[in-house]
Amino acid sequence: MSLQDKKILIGITGGIAAYKISFLIRDFVKQGAEVQVIMTPSARTFVSELTLATLSKNPVYSDFYGENGTWNNHVELGMWADAMIIAPCTANTLSKMVHGQCDHLLLATYLSARCPVFIAPAMDLDMYAHPSTRQNLEMAEDFGHIVIPAEEGELASGLVGPGRMAEPETILYAVKNYFLPQHKSLQGKTVLITAGPTYEAIDPVRFIGNHSSGKMGFELAKEAAARGAKVILVSGPTALVPENREIDLHRVTSAAEMLDEVFKHYHHADIAIASAAVADYAPKEIAPEKIKKNDDHLTIELVKNPDILKTMGAQKKQQFLVGFALETQNEEANALAKLEKKNLDMIVLNSLRDEGAGFKNDTNRITIFTKQEQIGFDLKSKKEVAADILDAVEMRLLK
Ligand code: C5P
Repeated sequence: MSLQDKKILIGITGGIAAYKISFLIRDFVKQGAEVQVIMTPSARTFVSELTLATLSKNPVYSDFYGENGTWNNHVELGMWADAMIIAPCTANTLSKMVHGQCDHLLLATYLSARCPVFIAPAMDLDMYAHPSTRQNLEMAEDFGHIVIPAEEGELASGLVGPGRMAEPETILYAVKNYFLPQHKSLQGKTVLITAGPTYEAIDPVRFIGNHSSGKMGFELAKEAAARGAKVILVSGPTALVPENREIDLHRVTSAAEMLDEVFKHYHHADIAIASAAVADYAPKEIAPEKIKKNDDHLTIELVKNPDILKTMGAQKKQQFLVGFALETQNEEANALAKLEKKNLDMIVLNSLRDEGAGFKNDTNRITIFTKQEQIGFDLKSKKEVAADILDAVEMRLLK
């Protein structure tokens, strides 16, 4: 219970996502935290005080004045907390927070709090995108607060896009992460990663290959090692060299070699991530000598390569298995079909239609699918994408 005895103060404002805070409180309590709740007057119309008081095992505050002339001391509440979380945070409360307004207990407590403040905004599409909201979120970050970005999806208005409050598990994860900055979240775990292209020999000098640079897999390896994992990286031909000496790198050339090497390590892996762009076909026979250009036509018969990831899926036991899908059309349907067919726990889709995403770039724009979820991300550096992927794995594997 990594939040044992941590004092968590949750401030709820008047957004439809307020009902989700019941789950967040329950999760914090499960982690051993002590929880107190403050609501803005409008939040009370969205979720019942009784529910929140029952789950948090504490009275819920919303006014400066309690019953029988008692005073709810905002300074004491602010001092009590090890972390304050404003979730959902409406545009109205956000604006008041960053401009020092103080017309209800939640704002007074916020202004008195000395602890780290987490903000999970929730608002409609255009409100979230509005320059004033963007500026207010930036100001909040400048104050040192931690903003947990809103997610994409269907909004209460029926519009679709970013604005939904981050899921309770994401908020919980952000808080846990804050308190455990030195904690190596993948300590004791073995992570197996495939990377790069494969080269399928035609003759001693020629091969069939692809444009994969291996960057995504090497970034994943680096990030997993930084999180304390034992990392085994099986890479096809690439000029990259891992910066971290502890990464156990095995260089291979063809798909057949990659399959062999992967299965030397797969059975004791906890997490396996297949980011390699494995050639689907290889020449049936490799010419022993360099093929001469005697004829106008040359036919090379190709045979199907083993599907390494599918084989891993078929033999899956404890492993959390992640695949990649690089698609040019019907992206979502193809990715979901692969998730199913290869028996994966998660698939990371990148579309070649997105500028800056895919093979040779330093950036990537991904969507993560599990059987239940779909999470879209912005265009980011491959380093940041690696962190997003491992966060997503950890959230589901290490709950
Ligand atoms: O079926 P498709 O090649 O699109 O699937 C892509 C995913 O499967 C990637 O994670 C890739 O690393 C993996 N793969 C594999 N062996 C193959 C082909 C793909 O491991 N022969």
